[in-house]
Amino acid sequence: MSTIESAPSPFAPSQSPYLEGGYAPISRELVAGPLEVTGELPRDLSGIFVRTGSNPRFHPIGQYHYFDGDGMLHAVHFEDGQATYRNRWVLTEGLAADVAAGRALSTGILERPDYRRPEGPYKDTANTDLVFHAGQLMALWWLSGKARVVRLPDLETLGNQTWGGRLVRSISAHPKVDPRTGEMVIFDYSPRPPYLSFGVVSVAGELVHHAEVELPGPRLQHDIAFTERFTLLFDMSLQPDPGRRASGEMPLVMRRDCPSRIGVVPRFGGNADVRWFEVAPFFMYHTVNAWEEDDTIVLVGCRIPEPLSGEGTSHGAPLLGNLRIAPFFHRWRLDLARGEAREEVLDDVLTEFPRMNDALLGRRSRYSYHPRLAPSETFLFDALIRYDLDGGAPVIHEYPRGWYGGEVSFAARDGGTGAEDDGYLLTFVQEEASGCSELHVLDAADVAAPARARIAIPQRVPTGYHTRWVAAAEVKHQRPL
Ligand SMILES: [Fe+2]
Repeated sequence: MSTIESAPSPFAPSQSPYLEGGYAPISRELVAGPLEVTGELPRDLSGIFVRTGSNPRFHPIGQYHYFDGDGMLHAVHFEDGQATYRNRWVLTEGLAADVAAGRALSTGILERPDYRRPEGPYKDTANTDLVFHAGQLMALWWLSGKARVVRLPDLETLGNQTWGGRLVRSISAHPKVDPRTGEMVIFDYSPRPPYLSFGVVSVAGELVHHAEVELPGPRLQHDIAFTERFTLLFDMSLQPDPGRRASGEMPLVMRRDCPSRIGVVPRFGGNADVRWFEVAPFFMYHTVNAWEEDDTIVLVGCRIPEPLSGEGTSHGAPLLGNLRIAPFFHRWRLDLARGEAREEVLDDVLTEFPRMNDALLGRRSRYSYHPRLAPSETFLFDALIRYDLDGGAPVIHEYPRGWYGGEVSFAARDGGTGAEDDGYLLTFVQEEASGCSELHVLDAADVAAPARARIAIPQRVPTGYHTRWVAAAEVKHQRPL
């Protein structure tokens, strides 16, 4: 197929800027290939690139927030020198109920939660994050939900991974796989006690550890980090404030009257083992990495000092409702011997959705790849920045004018050297005005260079969230649910 179809939004305009333009949901599930390639499709790249995002199946009821939509996956499969595209919704119980009813049955996070619903106060859309562990790709939800197993390459939702029923609560987006041990570190958070828990799934896919962590109250969480020995948890300053809901905003308040805390706990430890380090108040969606250097733990991530609108300076940052997306690359050093924390801003450019070569998660890494936020009221990335923690200058890859990218995944070259940047960076890129969408393949060692390949996608790929590269060997050794 070679026709670019800019499918119009199935919805009347609009309750939200995040239902229009490059964010407008699409209504079709498609399989298409071989795809047209401009440039050269690398011969040493084989596997599947998958991206998730929010794509409401039916017209939303009530106020819509960008985080509310049903999860939809877009994938490009590299095999035998050709590329094939597929997109498919994650078939959650909530989406199945909507389909049976022929309409949306659930309101989103800007409306009052309904705790009478046995499945939870909001629809678990599995729209946020993807992880591949123990032979299964799983789609996960930012508010903590179920782990939906999705088969590759056809993107069929197989059901929910409960680890033999041992996971009694839920799992948040952003579990992390330790490439050294194959273990997956998971966490869960809730507005009701216990407010935070974490655990470990073994390389064989068994839940082998789970522990609750005491917090002074409920906290909005989003990510964790780990080192070879420790898991890092957060007690951040963005906290629930139900009183704000009346004004149609996220019911959150930024508490500056007490420090934020970073918790360091042995991977198989419990609440009594957590060492808390006080740091300046902040919120953070995404960590990049953490590692140990002698008695110090280094943590890098995209810190947001002012996460709510109406606070401080605007930085020209985009807004999601009353959330201001104004993150800066940041480093904390936690001194285990002295019990002290130091921190520093690494750049003054707004970047989010940072990724790296995941083969180095938990150990010292040098490079990370950050989409740069465009000066826009909505959430758009006009460039990709490669940061070098060894002191090299940031390297910038600007997308063509009017085109916007997203999170990248690093894909190691087949038969490569194993060097940290010996591989490719993949991301969907969309021209906002036309809806034309492409998958771009960049050289991770030469980020400033033009894309090695621009792969035409035969329908619009709306702006979305997180990505996952699943190498051909992992695709081949998938496990059924
Ligand atoms: Fe995220």
